[in-house]
Order: sequence, then C-alpha cells, then structure tokens
Amino acid sequence: MNEGLSPELNPPVRTLLGPGPSGTHPRVYRAMAAPVLGHLDPAYLQIMNEVQLMLRAAFRTQNRMTIALPGTGTSGMEAAMANLLEPGDTIVIGVAGYFGERMVEMAGRYGAQVVRVDTEWGTIVEPARLREAVTAAGRVKAVAIVQGETSTGVLQPVQEIAQIAHAAGALAIVDAVTSFCTCELAVDEWELDYVYSCTQKGLSCPPGLSPITVSERAMHAVAARRERPSNWYLDLTLLDKYWGPERVYHHTAPASMTYALHEGLRVVLEEGLPARVARHARHATALHAACVALGMPLVAQAGHRLPPLTTVQIPEGVDDAQARGALLRERNIEIGGGLGAFRGKAWRIGLMGHTSTAENVLLVIGALVEAAAAQGVTLDAASGLGAAASLLFAAA
Ligand SMILES: Cc1ncc(COP(=O)(O)O)c(C=O)c1O
Repeated sequence: MNEGLSPELNPPVRTLLGPGPSGTHPRVYRAMAAPVLGHLDPAYLQIMNEVQLMLRAAFRTQNRMTIALPGTGTSGMEAAMANLLEPGDTIVIGVAGYFGERMVEMAGRYGAQVVRVDTEWGTIVEPARLREAVTAAGRVKAVAIVQGETSTGVLQPVQEIAQIAHAAGALAIVDAVTSFCTCELAVDEWELDYVYSCTQKGLSCPPGLSPITVSERAMHAVAARRERPSNWYLDLTLLDKYWGPERVYHHTAPASMTYALHEGLRVVLEEGLPARVARHARHATALHAACVALGMPLVAQAGHRLPPLTTVQIPEGVDDAQARGALLRERNIEIGGGLGAFRGKAWRIGLMGHTSTAENVLLVIGALVEAAAAQGVTLDAASGLGAAASLLFAAA
C-alpha cells in the first residue's frame, strides 16, 4: 500500500530567495498550529475582525471592504475582473511584464474590451502614456496596473493612476502582490479603488489567501451591475455578507491560514511599515551593489527597481538551470529563473518579508560565486561581498 511513498513527509528546509514564496516566519508557523475553529464560531469571527483591522492598517485605508479571499494572489486579480467588469466594459491595462499580461488575459475572459499599454520589459509604463490611452478609449470602466512586476523587478509608480482613472470616471485597480508590506503603498491617500495582494511574499506566510481592499466607489460599481458576476466563489456581494455584520455562510473559512495572516500582520505592524519598507530598500541596495561589482548588470530601469525582487543578467558562460540546481542542491537556496523574454537570461532574487536580511544578501552572493565557479566562470567574490558589506555594516 505504501510502496513508493516516503516513510514520512519531510520537505527540506530551504532559504527561499526567489520571487515567492518567501520564508515563513516562525511565529506564523506556530500560529498555524492553533486549533481549527468553525467559520461562524464567535471566537473565529473575532479573529476575522482583527485581521480586517490589521489589514486596513497595512493597506493604509479605512475601506470597510477589506478582507482576505480564499486562494493565492491570483484570486484577488480574478475577483477584480469578475466584479468590476461586465461584458463590453473597457479596461485600460498597463502591461510591463508577465503579470500585466495575466490581467489582460483574465479581463478578456470576462468579456471586457481590453486596451493595453505595453512597455519594454524592465521599464515602467509611463503614466502619461496611460493617460493618453484612457483619453483615447472614451468610456472606460477601470484602469489597472501592477505595482511590483515580479517578472521584471520593476517598481511601477502608481500614485497617479487614480487621478488618471477618476478623471475618466473609471476605477483604479492595483496589483500589490509583491509590493504589499515591502514597498510604500497608501491606498486612501492615493485614492486606489481595488488593491489585491497575497500572503506568501511581504507577509511571510504560506500561500493561500489574497488580502484585498475595495473602495466605496468600487463597491457602488459592484452594486450597480446589470448582472451578477459570472464567478460565484469570488462574488464580492456574497463575500461581504460573510465578512460584514450579516455573517452569512459563504465558504468554509481556511482557519489555519487566517491564523497565519493574523500573526503575519502582527509581525508587520510591530516592525512598523516605514521601518519595514526601509529594511527592504536597504538590503536591496546592498544586493544591487554586490551584483554590479560581480559583473552581473541589473535588468530593471534605474530609479524604478523593486526592492523585494532583483533581476540580474546571468553572467556570460553560466548555465541558468545548472546554477540554480546547484544552489538548491548544495546550499538549499531557491532563486528564480527569468520569465518570458528573460528566460535563461536573468535571475530573479527575492528578499521579501522575513527573508530580507543582511545575512541572506551575503549568502546569496557567496552561493552565486560558488555556482559560477563550478562552471568555470570566475566572479570577483571579494568585490561583490565587499560592496554589499560596506552598505550593510556600519564599520565595514
Ligand atoms: C505581481 C504578481 N501578480 C500576481 C501574482 C499571482 O499570485 P499567485 O501566484 O499568488 O496566485 C504574482 C505571483 O507571483 C505576482 O508576482
């Protein structure tokens, strides 16, 4: 019966320095071992309320509709398209990489007319181009953009997107899957209408929930729909009846994941958002300096680099898959390969949440030098480690 099975489940302990998931915080693991409660148990409802309070603080919003959807970050994207778009509506989407492309694909499946504003991978979508496209499109229902494009390592400025959208009577949708709790994000101040994220990156929880926040303006648009969304599971009106005062059963709540999110948010808020954002920036800057010193140019446009995710060119003569395989085998380190146009040409190194540490910057640099050396390519380890250390340690 058990032939061919491992004697026990025993996954290796990795250092997760790829595009996500990041390492789960020990406090989060402990929280997940708490007893499972029923989805209408008053004790569980209290935990949900606290999650909402903390999510509002982390998103910097007062939005009543701030909840955690079941599913990974993609469920937040899917809920945006399913609820905010009706067949025939026009949406303008900035496409700067793989996840912008996913939004286009999804919006199309919900019957929307998609106007894409493309940019070269590794660069931002210039807000002026987005504005032009919105003006030219006429009646627009929504404008959507990815804040942290994990495929390219670009941090897209999103402060202007609401202005651009609202001037056209449209809603502003932002993908903050990688940027939430790692980069500055101020939902109310920037007047964003729908923002979604995930648990497995900046929050250092396992994958499994998608925190979202929805403005009153967007909830009015949902209420004014001609037809109900074709997606039942992610129907915001139904979900609101469970998360709001009515407490109507919608789905069996993933209790252990809710505990994880609760603890992940507590860790974030204890550190404080400004300190957390600064920590991500500091470690990214050190990693950038080290990569450049090693002769691995950065891929993302200068001035718009995404602190939790760095894309670097793979050095000449180094095979991508072999090097990443060696990192995993020899050092238990995961980094990401390139997606799309960057496949085989770039690495994606994540320093997110709990894994954004000085130790991990030095570790990944040392391990990359070692992996390149195993393929006969010499990188200047002393320069790389020295460049990072001089930014990480006061006396270095
Ligand atoms: C920017 C961005 N958007 C959306 C997603 C999809 O999220 P998930 O894989 O959690 O469904 C990802 C995943 O890495 C992402 O990086």
